[in-house]
Amino acid sequence: MPKSLQELIQKLHEIFQDNNVNVDEVQELMESYRSNPKDWKQYAMFDKLRYTRNLVDEGNGKFNLIILCWGEGQGSSIHDHSNSHCFMKMLQGELKETLFDWPEKEGGDMTERSNRTLENNSVAYINDKIGLHRVENASHTEGSVSLHLYSPPFQTCKVFDQRTSHTTEAKMTFWSKYGERTPFETTASKENN
Ligand SMILES: [Fe+2]
Repeated sequence: MPKSLQELIQKLHEIFQDNNVNVDEVQELMESYRSNPKDWKQYAMFDKLRYTRNLVDEGNGKFNLIILCWGEGQGSSIHDHSNSHCFMKMLQGELKETLFDWPEKEGGDMTERSNRTLENNSVAYINDKIGLHRVENASHTEGSVSLHLYSPPFQTCKVFDQRTSHTTEAKMTFWSKYGERTPFETTASKENN
């Protein structure tokens, strides 16, 4: 069981040396780490306007590990995961995850399939075969922090307008990298992931 975020990252590096990702193994490992704010507060930078994406580790090119900070009421668009695995572990607070099916054609609205609340320390998993999702911090009193692992790493994903199913491409941007605010990134992260 990893005793710190650093130990978790070390174990993830070992697991991802193998090109075959065992989803259950990664999920169980991430779940077994008990969130300690001392481990990750250097990465947890909030913005008033929108949730932020903060790069923690590039996983030897096999995965990206990113800490997302969600202010009260902040949320993502509906999005896909560019054919990658996506693991999402709660580090602080709660997030609401709403699942959607891929739209069959543009023009109609997208209906919710299901939703659930992710509690602290739990790990959710999604990929494009499972469907699309929206993630939001529904709390009016507490910020949420989550740790996301994407493998393989990706730079863009698709976002969807819930009313029309219209699809656009969104670029992944980082509010900070390795605990340092990203230079020249004056706008908040785009609405993705
Ligand atoms: Fe996502």
